[in-house]
Parts: sequence; C-alpha cells; structure tokens
Amino acid sequence: MLVVKTEINTFMKENESREKEEMELTGNSRRDFLKKSSLITAVALTPVAAVKASELRLDERLSDAIEQMPLNIEINGKTYNLKVEPRTTLLDLLREKLNLTGTKKGCDQGQCGACTVHIDGVRANSCLQLAIMNDGAKITTIEGLAKGDELHPMQEAFIKHDGFQCGYCTPGQIMSAVACIHEGHANSETEIREFMSGNICRCGAYANIVNAIKEVKAGGNV
Ligand code: FES
Ligand code: FES
Repeated sequence: MLVVKTEINTFMKENESREKEEMELTGNSRRDFLKKSSLITAVALTPVAAVKASELRLDERLSDAIEQMPLNIEINGKTYNLKVEPRTTLLDLLREKLNLTGTKKGCDQGQCGACTVHIDGVRANSCLQLAIMNDGAKITTIEGLAKGDELHPMQEAFIKHDGFQCGYCTPGQIMSAVACIHEGHANSETEIREFMSGNICRCGAYANIVNAIKEVKAGGNV
C-alpha cells in the first residue's frame, strides 16, 4: 500500500507540473487536473482486491450461481418449477416474475392487506412471505377466484354493493372476505369488521364491503 501511495504521490506531482506547463501553453483550467486527482485518490483509498472484484462483477456472478433456489409451487391450479433468489417475497414473485399483478403491493410491510392471497386455503400477506417458504404450496390469487368468465360470488357482491372506489385494496379485500367466511368469522357485522380489520381501504368503502360479505355469507354458497 505504501508503494502504491508513493507512486501516486509521484504521479500527482508530475501531473501537477505538467498541468502547469499545459495551462501556460494552452490556457486550460484546473478542472481537468482536479478530476484526475479525485479519481486517483479514490483508487488509493479502495482496496485492490475490491476494485478487481468489482471490475469482474464477482458479486453478481456469485449471486447468480449460488442464490437461485428451486421452487415448486402451484398457483391458481398451474404448477410452476422455478428458480428464485431466497430473498424474493411471494408478492414479488407473483407480480414481477409471473406477471400476476392482481395482487397489489401497498405498504410492503404487512400493514395494509392489499397483498392478501390464500396459501393452502389460508389467507396470508404475501409481502411477508419469502417465496421459497412456500415450496409445494397451493396459492390462490385474485386471478384464480373466478371460474372462467363466471365471477366468484364475492366478486359479484362487491360489484353489487359498490364495495370499492379506486379499487386498489379490492383484490386483497375480496381474498380476505372469502377467507373470513371460510374461517367462520362472518357471523355478525361486528365480527366481520374485526376479522377484516387487517385490510385497509383508503377510500373508506368499509360499510359497503361489510354489506357484500353479509350477503355472500347469507347466500351460503362460499
Ligand atoms: Fe402486504 Fe401491505 S403490501 S400488507
Ligand atoms: Fe380505494 Fe379501497 S377502494 S383503497
């Protein structure tokens, strides 16, 4: 390191006097000199191994080679055999890799419920799940709720009761609403409100959402 610093000092001195001569001859400003000396200082302060590794993109190549794990997962009845980075959330897998963008990203911190999906029939915030934790699982997203052109009764009820305004929270609300009935937690308005409290609606469509759930529960076909 000492040798490198000495060489750099020598180079900088030579460069400085050359720059002076150049300025006298060409009228160049000091800006070029400052650019060069900053670059040299940065190089002097960076460990040689790190510079080399960054040049070779070793970190990226290493993570490409190591950080891909197999994931076998069923989503909306379709089987996927994938390779994913261990840090990928289920939400990002759905949205970014599989283009299933019906599941929404709101807070990305487990606070809003916009990302609710069913994992083996149980509702979960997909932003709090690592994709690889769900190897072998069966996932249902909002895209998998309808049967072809026939909407799920909860989707019909949300439309009928005007259970949304902007619609951003709606996929999560509907997935939670279906689960709420399956769980046996839709026996009264108070109970519905309590067990839907993990799903935030910034448009405040709560009263209509509760009405939709009450109707579907009364219909008994979910
Ligand atoms: Fe998952 Fe808000 S995006 S809870
Ligand atoms: Fe807009 Fe719920 S309908 S956030």
